[in-house]
Amino acid sequence: MAETARQLLREFEKNSGTVDDPLVSWSPDTLRRILRTELPGAQVIVVSNREPYIHNMKDGGVDLIVPASGLVSALEPVTRACAGTWIAHGGGSADKITVDEHDHVQVPPGNPAYTLRRVWLSDEELQGYYYGFANDGLWPLCHIAFTRPLFRASDWETYEAVNQKFADIVVEEARNERPIVLIQDYHFALLPRMIRRRLPEAIIITFWHIPWPNSEVFSICPWREQILDGLLGSSIVGFHIQFHCNNFMESVDRFMESRIEREHSAISYGGQTSLVHSYPISIEWPPAALAAQPPVEECRRRVFERFGLSPDTKLFVGVERMDYTKGIVDRFQAIEELFTNHPEWIGRLVFLQIAAPSRGTLPAYQHLHQECLDFVDAFNRRYGSDGYKPIIMLAEHHTQEEIYNVYRAADACVVSSLHDGMNLVAKEFVASRDDEHGVLILSTFAGAARELLEAVIVNPYDATAMGEAMLRALTMPEDEQRERMRRMREIVRDNNIYRWAGSMLQDAARLRKRNSIQQVTENPPQRLGHNIVRMFDKRKAMATRDKTPA
Ligand code: F6P
Repeated sequence: MAETARQLLREFEKNSGTVDDPLVSWSPDTLRRILRTELPGAQVIVVSNREPYIHNMKDGGVDLIVPASGLVSALEPVTRACAGTWIAHGGGSADKITVDEHDHVQVPPGNPAYTLRRVWLSDEELQGYYYGFANDGLWPLCHIAFTRPLFRASDWETYEAVNQKFADIVVEEARNERPIVLIQDYHFALLPRMIRRRLPEAIIITFWHIPWPNSEVFSICPWREQILDGLLGSSIVGFHIQFHCNNFMESVDRFMESRIEREHSAISYGGQTSLVHSYPISIEWPPAALAAQPPVEECRRRVFERFGLSPDTKLFVGVERMDYTKGIVDRFQAIEELFTNHPEWIGRLVFLQIAAPSRGTLPAYQHLHQECLDFVDAFNRRYGSDGYKPIIMLAEHHTQEEIYNVYRAADACVVSSLHDGMNLVAKEFVASRDDEHGVLILSTFAGAARELLEAVIVNPYDATAMGEAMLRALTMPEDEQRERMRRMREIVRDNNIYRWAGSMLQDAARLRKRNSIQQVTENPPQRLGHNIVRMFDKRKAMATRDKTPA
């Protein structure tokens, strides 16, 4: 780059006004302000596999559910604030009858703020792309929870084809050639490159919601180069924590002909630069589900009544999808350790486990479900008596309001993931406790442990130590609980979901300005008109795909 361009960039970076300041309180308004001032006229397109609202047929009518997904709870308030377009797989049994002729539905229902564009997938597509390559391959590969990844060539082909289908729809939905596309997760590793080919000026931010393994683990994937090439079509690749950014850069370094500038967390590959940044995801503050909650005492009364618990019972809760990465059986084993080493707690502690059904056609998930049922059954027979059931497991979907009710009724929440990108249950529990009471027991292998340092941090593989951590939670003085909870609440309040999205949008704005400055400086006379958005030749963009080898 010419020295003048470098100077200009330095000046630009020095002077760029920023709201990314810890003193700023991040809200939907902050996001709207960033869009208005830094990205005027920009169209925000979100792409994810899971849709934020699912319409299902139920009892002859249409029922609406919000899926159990950290991704959805994080992105929904952001997309509302940006009035964007969200493209996702329409998987509900009534999804097709609730869209218009463009496969659009305005959401949230009753108070529409953005457009949901549903994408239809056949059973074969879903099997190969979602269950197959994404969840039988990439999910265990990235989580390293000692479940072997399965790589099938036919799944990979379907994964490629479905990524291509989503790329077509992004181009179809783009209003001009410079949208901001926020791609979510491991279902779409190839999508950034496919979009980049057809909308070269788009800002593409890909957020990988799960861990990225070290390069040795990653190397077993037969399509590792294609995956890296796909992701490097992004302007920015985001992870929850720096450690995963480092693992990603190490993988690129090992397998791709690229130049890595560690100082700037930048990768130059194929004539393009991608930034690799950490953005710790979070939840909205205050959470919408909290608004309708009665006081904590009332939540506790309702939950205790529902499960027939005596008032002096200590209640611990766990909330997640039924997934082998969450360490559900491991926490049950820790309760067993607690009961063995401190039998005075038998009869006085109840563990309520909510486990939303998930990916239930995959054998690994079916096996886990059965293992949990068997464990709970044997455990309750061993330690239960006269209506006392030490573990209550509800393997069914719950609404956010019901879940917040349970959080508020609990003495402690246990998050014992074997490996987790972030884990939003930990943050939700903290956000739900406006009474500053309750203890969070948190796995050191969840990204959230980097922020919520005042939790009782545990190694989920060490059942005895986790049992002792449970004892600590059971006996922690009120003052200490309050101190810890207060500090964690400040962290979640300040690092909320608007900050997560806002930091990405700000980085997108910086990139856009940087590209413009670079182009103006490097090609002065001819390219001066570059900043003006040209007429968008959508037909050309849509046709590009056919000419480019995948
Ligand atoms: O943790 C990764 C993730 O994609 C989350 O972002 C999301 O909450 C969860 O998995 C949901 O999984 P699924 O969409 O397969 O139910």
